[in-house]
Amino acid sequence: MSCEVWLSPVQQQTIIFILIQLESCIALNNGVAPTPGMGWSTWNRYGCNINESVIIDNANAMIKSGLVNYGYEYINIDDCWAVGRNESTNELIADPVAFPNGIKYIADYLHSVGLKMGIYTDASPITWQKRPGSFGFEQLDADTFASWGIDYVKEDWMKQSFYNWTGDPIALYTKMSDCLNATGRDIYFAVCEWGIDNVQTWAPAIANSWRTAPDIKDEWTRIMEILDLQLPLTNASGVGSGWNDMDSLEVGNGNMSTIEYTTHFSIWCMMASPLIMGNDLTNMDDDTLAILSATEMIEVNQDTLGIQAYRVYQNTSESTEIYVRPLDDGTHAVMLLNRNDNDTLNIELDLGLLGLPTTLNCLIRDIWKQQDLGVYSGSYISDNVPPHGCVVLKVVWMD
Ligand SMILES: *[C@@H]1O[C@H](CO)[C@@H](O)[C@H](O)[C@H]1NC(C)=O
Ligand SMILES: *[C@@H]1O[C@H](CO)[C@@H](O)[C@H](O)[C@H]1NC(C)=O
Ligand SMILES: *[C@@H]1O[C@H](CO)[C@@H](O)[C@H](O)[C@H]1NC(C)=O
Ligand SMILES: *[C@@H]1O[C@H](CO)[C@@H](O)[C@H](O)[C@H]1NC(C)=O
Ligand SMILES: *[C@@H]1O[C@H](CO)[C@@H](O)[C@H](O)[C@H]1NC(C)=O
Repeated sequence: MSCEVWLSPVQQQTIIFILIQLESCIALNNGVAPTPGMGWSTWNRYGCNINESVIIDNANAMIKSGLVNYGYEYINIDDCWAVGRNESTNELIADPVAFPNGIKYIADYLHSVGLKMGIYTDASPITWQKRPGSFGFEQLDADTFASWGIDYVKEDWMKQSFYNWTGDPIALYTKMSDCLNATGRDIYFAVCEWGIDNVQTWAPAIANSWRTAPDIKDEWTRIMEILDLQLPLTNASGVGSGWNDMDSLEVGNGNMSTIEYTTHFSIWCMMASPLIMGNDLTNMDDDTLAILSATEMIEVNQDTLGIQAYRVYQNTSESTEIYVRPLDDGTHAVMLLNRNDNDTLNIELDLGLLGLPTTLNCLIRDIWKQQDLGVYSGSYISDNVPPHGCVVLKVVWMD
């Protein structure tokens, strides 16, 4: 009896993507973050104005608002928590005014309510806010973090030209990765070298995610700059590799429109970036909560195939672009993006752009509206996409 395996075009395409990823599979093997990390960080909203109640209040709000039900789990303290080192032990000391009960107290609280805790350090001797960095104290700091119950470490990269110090980023980030491993605790390692030194070529072996761009800002043009920087990095990201980190989110911080925040969130989901919220969770309007808890959009971000979207179409004269992300159930997520500053546009999706026969019938669903739009073959036109807006579709092949 002969045994022939017939694969549909969709299955064939999916297998090709998995093979591409296996080729570059040299991942950090710590079992953390099989999908992009999700949580919240202090930096975008609070900067250095942090203290124990800011952390606890936002953690409680992440639970009370229901955001935890969508997968958000990390509560991360960014820069400005440390004030120095203990003179005899060299251990990091948390600001005694802002954190009177210490960091372990907060970690214990977060664990008691089912959350995880992240902390911040720097690969150089000092952080951007002139707090102590981990250079020369990597194992001590990793051990300190582990003893406090830390689950996520972001390690920043203080610009060397600012002061008289040079260090090799690959050696220093590898050292911290090894030191975290030596603690025996499962710790998500987030490299934050903002996309320089070809970080995507070496970070997958030592980190769960790596920043791929300069710091985010709460403005549209920066969102577009960060998007454009992801395009050459597609193959670095993936299951068994780690995630291109586009930086924490600005959704809800007030300087962009709801349409722009919706597009910002859609892009982070399509590109498989970690989703680390950066707004005040204790005071969110309905639009902010709706964006951050968009179930079907988050499902795209957390898709287990782990393939970052790639651009299949660009019209520079009208400023429209189309991005495609194959999903684990054989369907595709497709983002139709209107980058035009002024014009509301109809954007046509030629289904041939997905690499499959245009004769196939597809069920098309609107991921934001959570509505099926109908069955199409050949092409689908999304009418009236507003300036800086996008439409995200799920394309389900029917034959
Ligand atoms: C440490 O690294 C080894 C080898 O990659 C891995 O098997 C182990 O799970 C890691 N342990 C932790 C705690 O990350
Ligand atoms: C707000 O957005 C505008 C327009 O994009 C930008 O010029 C400005 O710098 C932003 N302000 C802040 C505080 O981010
Ligand atoms: C990703 O890898 C595939 C297969 O090797 C290649 O065709 C494609 O150009 C790569 N993409 C990028 C952006 O490097
Ligand atoms: C780009 O958009 C313009 C204006 O709608 C249209 O005339 C042109 O044919 C489009 N170009 C491509 C390559 O699709
Ligand atoms: C958009 O409109 C503004 C203000 O009307 C104008 O200054 C700008 O040139 C327009 N941009 C484009 C790309 O047409």
